[in-house]
Amino acid sequence: MPNQRNAGASWMPNDPKVGSTLDRLHNESKHDRIVIMQAFPTGLLALIRGRSWFEAVSPWLKYTYVKVGYEAGELMYTTARAINARRIIEFGTGFGFSTIYLAAAVRDNGGGTVITTEIEPTKAQVARRNLADAGLEHFVEIRTGDAMETLRGAPAPVDMVLLDGWNEAYIPLVKMLTPTLRHGSVVFADNVKFFKNALRPYVEHMRNPQNGFVTTTLNAGSGFEYSVYLPTNGR
Ligand SMILES: C[S@@+](CC[C@H](N)C(=O)[O-])C[C@H]1O[C@@H](n2cnc3c(N)ncnc32)[C@H](O)[C@@H]1O
Repeated sequence: MPNQRNAGASWMPNDPKVGSTLDRLHNESKHDRIVIMQAFPTGLLALIRGRSWFEAVSPWLKYTYVKVGYEAGELMYTTARAINARRIIEFGTGFGFSTIYLAAAVRDNGGGTVITTEIEPTKAQVARRNLADAGLEHFVEIRTGDAMETLRGAPAPVDMVLLDGWNEAYIPLVKMLTPTLRHGSVVFADNVKFFKNALRPYVEHMRNPQNGFVTTTLNAGSGFEYSVYLPTNGR
């Protein structure tokens, strides 16, 4: 994952508040490595015992960013601009790094909303502050709680989705959100390479033509599944 913002990303230099907030979060997230190393033995033991890695390490993950990188952020920003996204749904706000890219795109498209959801109230609170620092708070609605509840009945049409929470929820969420997608909506899902085995069923779901997506795996983030909703009924 590149450790620097792409100097060629034309919108960044024009928005110092966004750029400086992203850089601050990037620097703060360097602490993640230490926390993840501390959690490693517990996570490994859980995997060996056939238990959920996320559940086992969740006390540590409360304090980690585990954010998408600059490259993935820039990919989402440029894609959202290309498809004129006005309503974006995000699963996994974290401290708001990815949300900043999504909200900047909605703003630069002329306005709209990012509906994002975070189960950890303290993370949601900090994300709110970070979005305000970036000057983007008016383009984001943070729903605190379990995504399967907070995103139920999400408004349509949805132009873009980012799945970046714990693996188990990807399939149920994409099934829940598919009826809200418009023709040409883009669904990004992070970590499909890092958690290759756990997320294989998700990738298979997106590759099954009956589900209406065309899809490819990119090297951005920790393996980004990039899927476009093109149902054959032409909705
Ligand atoms: C990988 S982090 C998100 C990072 C964020 N997208 C970024 O790039 O800055 C995943 C987040 O999903 C949250 N999460 C996990 N399960 C969730 C659920 N069921 N509902 C809502 N949020 C959840 C975690 O608390 C964690 O903060």
